[in-house]
Amino acid sequence: MTSNRRTFAIISHPDAGKTTLTEKLLLQGGAIHQAGLVKARGQARRARSDWMKIEQQRGISVTSSVMTFEKDYDGETITFNLLDTPGHEDFSEDTYRTLTAVDSAIMVIDAAKGIEPQTRKLFEVCRLRSVPIITFVNKVDREGRDPFETLDEVADMLALDVSPQMWPIGMGGLFEGLLDFRTGEVARPEGGSSEYLGKRDVDAEIPENFEEEYQLAQAGYPEFDLEAYRNGDLTPVYFGSALKNFGVEELIDAIARLAPPPRPQPAGDELIEPSLDEVTGFIFKVQANMDPNHRDRIAFMRQVSGTFKRGMKLTPSGLGKPIAVHSPILFFAQDREIADTAEPGDIIGIPNHGTLRVGDTLSEKNEIRFTGLPNFAPEILRRVQLKDPTKTKQLRKALDDLSEEGVIQVFYPEIGGSSIVGVVGQLQLDVLVSRLSAEYKVEAGLEASPFATARWLKGSDAALRDFEKFNQGNLARDRDNDLVFMAKSAWDVGYQEEKNPDLKFSATKER
Ligand code: G4P
Repeated sequence: MTSNRRTFAIISHPDAGKTTLTEKLLLQGGAIHQAGLVKARGQARRARSDWMKIEQQRGISVTSSVMTFEKDYDGETITFNLLDTPGHEDFSEDTYRTLTAVDSAIMVIDAAKGIEPQTRKLFEVCRLRSVPIITFVNKVDREGRDPFETLDEVADMLALDVSPQMWPIGMGGLFEGLLDFRTGEVARPEGGSSEYLGKRDVDAEIPENFEEEYQLAQAGYPEFDLEAYRNGDLTPVYFGSALKNFGVEELIDAIARLAPPPRPQPAGDELIEPSLDEVTGFIFKVQANMDPNHRDRIAFMRQVSGTFKRGMKLTPSGLGKPIAVHSPILFFAQDREIADTAEPGDIIGIPNHGTLRVGDTLSEKNEIRFTGLPNFAPEILRRVQLKDPTKTKQLRKALDDLSEEGVIQVFYPEIGGSSIVGVVGQLQLDVLVSRLSAEYKVEAGLEASPFATARWLKGSDAALRDFEKFNQGNLARDRDNDLVFMAKSAWDVGYQEEKNPDLKFSATKER
């Protein structure tokens, strides 16, 4: 049986239109009935499901973390799980990790701006895991760049084959419609208006003045190849306007037709197939409570195999003893009171008191360990300065907790000195300081640290001991007591790598 689940994320640079597109996807999928309601949708559901009570009482907001909608396609109901990746400002490891839980991604590009830095960064994360990508060139209702230029840029900057599946007939004020290469049809705003009332006329007439461009577009790029796409080597390209709800339907159809159903997940040397009977999954995100009086958290599990049933006992790899999952948050349950089962590709929110950590595997038999959920080397490192030195113990507890949640990474220098925290995005630092104060009653400041980045060290005991002897001032332990080289610059990393060929300086760490 092939699965009808499509679990995906949208990657983009801020302002490219991710929010607008998300709304339109949900709207088209019938999950919301009016545009502009992504937020309001949470309110409506809140009345219904039991877990929303937790949300309400404890102020946890999980509503937008996973958005589910359904659409019939070729006589089959496809369930789409759209995982939210936080935008630019709260860019963090969370964003990276969310991408480990999806089977594919939509890359949204602003037609006028092309590939922007954030898109590129997120793309690289997708590439690490060969996540297949569908490209959506947005805002064709505005003056944009020549589509050829955009496609060539994607191909060059991302070293990816591009295969246009549609083509805009004109842009901005001259926009006349979208030509679908697959069906040969042209979709125009209804009545030829540029107002895009959400309706359109479809015919097979290609405007004469466009004939040449169309032929060039078809001849100039590789043909679509499903295998190349699913391997992450080729991206099919769609055009449209999220704002005007144009081209969005074609995009959903593309996800239904092309995007892979739940993929097998690596566990050491093995691949765990979704068809395995045993229920297995991994935690890719932990969201803490906003209410300082409670320590409740929601751990997000990506289900890999089996059919999950409410109340089932699963064993977290980090704990060793089973927990009963009585009140799972099942995100696709919006139309029912309570969903009782979940399938591979679905996301299950598990309320807990800090027992579940990012990277944990959950399974019935406790034999499988999923791999490939890395920590990423932080890009910003700061020294934590306690305002009240008697609070050392509380600080340590708080830093350990917050690093388990994935808010920060913490490094304890080998020789003296205060703890160092590392983050991938600036906003995480603000979150850290305010949560230390609100939840742990620890007032702390952050100071510049002499280090620019960190690398996990791997090698033989002898090689590590040797290295330690000469580099004590630049060594720290992470929360798992693993040895970390604190580098003053990228050059420093390169230099040490060259000098110590027996050691591996790793920018990611798998748990
Ligand atoms: P983001 O989540 O990727 O950051 O982008 P978001 O959807 O918030 O869109 C950013 C801006 O771009 C918004 O305008 C939005 O209306 C606009 N936009 C999105 N899609 C399209 C499109 O297809 N065509 C055009 N012309 N504009 C689009 P804003 O002025 O910043 O916000 P708002 O006041 O319109 O909400």
